[in-house]
Amino acid sequence: MDRYAVVGHPVTHSQSPAIHTRFAELTGQRLTYERLELPLGGFRPGIEAARAGGLSGGNVTVPFKLDAFDWVQHRSARAELAQACNTFWFEADGVHGDNTDGIGLVRDITRNAGVALHGARVLLVGAGGAGAGVLGPLLSEGPAELVLSNRTVARAQEVTDRHADWAKRHGAHLLASGLMDVLGHFDVVINATAASLQGAEPPLPASAIRPGTLVVDMMYGPKSQPFADWTRAQGATVRDGLGMLVEQAAEAFYIWRGVMPPAAQVLAERRAALV
Ligand code: ATR
Repeated sequence: MDRYAVVGHPVTHSQSPAIHTRFAELTGQRLTYERLELPLGGFRPGIEAARAGGLSGGNVTVPFKLDAFDWVQHRSARAELAQACNTFWFEADGVHGDNTDGIGLVRDITRNAGVALHGARVLLVGAGGAGAGVLGPLLSEGPAELVLSNRTVARAQEVTDRHADWAKRHGAHLLASGLMDVLGHFDVVINATAASLQGAEPPLPASAIRPGTLVVDMMYGPKSQPFADWTRAQGATVRDGLGMLVEQAAEAFYIWRGVMPPAAQVLAERRAALV
């Protein structure tokens, strides 16, 4: 039977095994999906040992997405833009890597929340690995304007420079800014910072949000609650990162198996399991 795994450090609380096992059940695919925790600094030997042991492919999570990007031999365009891989598999010509985080976020916004990105004014907060990882697919939707704001402005500038041609190709006006320098309000706001983990103040001005704005926090669970409460108090609709998690998994499953699993059903089940 084909074997897959989520590779990270730590992976104890990863929901990926439950999600992929359920996808396999619902699509009649015969596979197993396990957790593979590798030591910090030990990605390459660990993943090569797993490959030799018969692994068919897998997902990569914190902190190894960059190591995975360096390791794979064939990268998708969206992995190149993200400079990170969260999905890999083996073919006769070597190791292939992709990044499904961005398309997962896009599908959660456009399908699950039913909000259009095309022509929208979008604020992406956070230019670290999480933010940079989703920028390419967000731009592919053709937002009218996308502002990437970050505490360290130089980091936002570096990421927007890397995406400048891609933005132009999709007719999107792409800008870098500081956290509190963003002007006006937005149709969609995405929080890709680690600020809530540190109990920090919301990483954007309240004026960025108005009633009708969709706010997506890539985090989920209790730590994301204060930010969700704050955004709701501004009259916005708030989604946590669970939808993106299930959707990025669905795209990875599709890449490996050629079958798209029923992501919306599994998202509803995972949501019910959380409460
Ligand atoms: P990740 O892979 O989760 O994105 P990262 O690459 O370390 O992790 O990036 C963390 C992000 O959260 C960055 O955008 C960081 O801002 P800086 O680039 O200025 O460091 C942001 N961040 C972390 N703590 C923050 C805080 N207290 N307030 C605002 N932004 C914060």
